[in-house]
Amino acid sequence: RVSQTSFAVTPAEALVGINDRAAMLSQPGFGKYLTDHMVTIRYSADKGWHDAALTARHDLSLNPATMVLHYAGEIFEGLKAYRHPDGGAALFRPDANARRFNASAKRLAMAELPEDMFVDAVAELAILDREWIPSEGEGSLYLRPFMIGTEVAIGNHPSDSFLFSVIASPVGSYFKGGVAGVSVWVSDNYTRAAPGGTGAAKCGGNYAAALAAQADAARQGCEQVVFLDAVERRWIEELAGMNVFFVFDDGSLQTPPLTGTILPGITRDSLIRLARDKGMTVREEPYAIDQWRDDLASGRLVEVFACGTAAVVAPISQIKGNGFDLTIGDGGLGPVTADLRKTLTDIQFGRAEGPEGWVH
Ligand code: COI
Repeated sequence: RVSQTSFAVTPAEALVGINDRAAMLSQPGFGKYLTDHMVTIRYSADKGWHDAALTARHDLSLNPATMVLHYAGEIFEGLKAYRHPDGGAALFRPDANARRFNASAKRLAMAELPEDMFVDAVAELAILDREWIPSEGEGSLYLRPFMIGTEVAIGNHPSDSFLFSVIASPVGSYFKGGVAGVSVWVSDNYTRAAPGGTGAAKCGGNYAAALAAQADAARQGCEQVVFLDAVERRWIEELAGMNVFFVFDDGSLQTPPLTGTILPGITRDSLIRLARDKGMTVREEPYAIDQWRDDLASGRLVEVFACGTAAVVAPISQIKGNGFDLTIGDGGLGPVTADLRKTLTDIQFGRAEGPEGWVH
């Protein structure tokens, strides 16, 4: 176990020229470009965590029998570095990502990483690649910590060695339309996670398993899929990579509870706290698909939004499913969604004070 990460800094071999970087930063898209450096830390049963290195970004070379390639032993996180008005930058709640990473590691029978090592690794990469943190608009530097099982073996058992790594990518809006409304397709033939499964873990397998449903959504002209629970096929769970909130005409909010099949989003958690601090009522209670349709028809449901680190807070403007196609509100950014989005991003971008310990 390494308690204090010390980084051996290797100079980047092929830094992208400043002009290229400026071009990438002006139109970053989401996850199209990677920064110059990366972190790697190795784990083995005999040495524990070792060989922490912050180096020029390089390819990974893997034996074809490496366990991750066969049994999907992979977990990841997503968090961002935000440019602040004083020219500095900050991470948002990286300790929460570190804790969730270890919860995912436990579920996937992988080694846990000391939380301070996780936070150091992410922070050191953000500092070294600080020129890649956008300073325009709502751009940010998306940091992607991940871990893979690296034991070379065809037998299916927990890996005895792991590679933890962090890469980074300058990003703009996750959705093509920015904060314009997102359309969603309610999947009636796929579910995302069953009780006792891996739904609460941030593992690549969950995202791989959502892709066919996501492709169905695209065929229906929708940007995201909505998953219902696997038992009754009735309760809203989440989208393929983000949580969902409902806003009612009495000003209250509702979001599905964390029952083990839903990813415990850090944006979700932050919004619940911020909304309650504003005096709003927030229910973490199941919400049924038929109720969603009835509440839209009666006017009780006034706004719906998706949230996540990548998506931030994105209004949902249209819900489609087998036999129905409904518009929510006027199809744009509603006032409650807009207010919560502003409160959150003002804290992330250092324009306002947030709860203690959120800005790192
Ligand atoms: C994130 O919001 O950070 C995620 O990991 C979701 C992913 C689909 C980009």
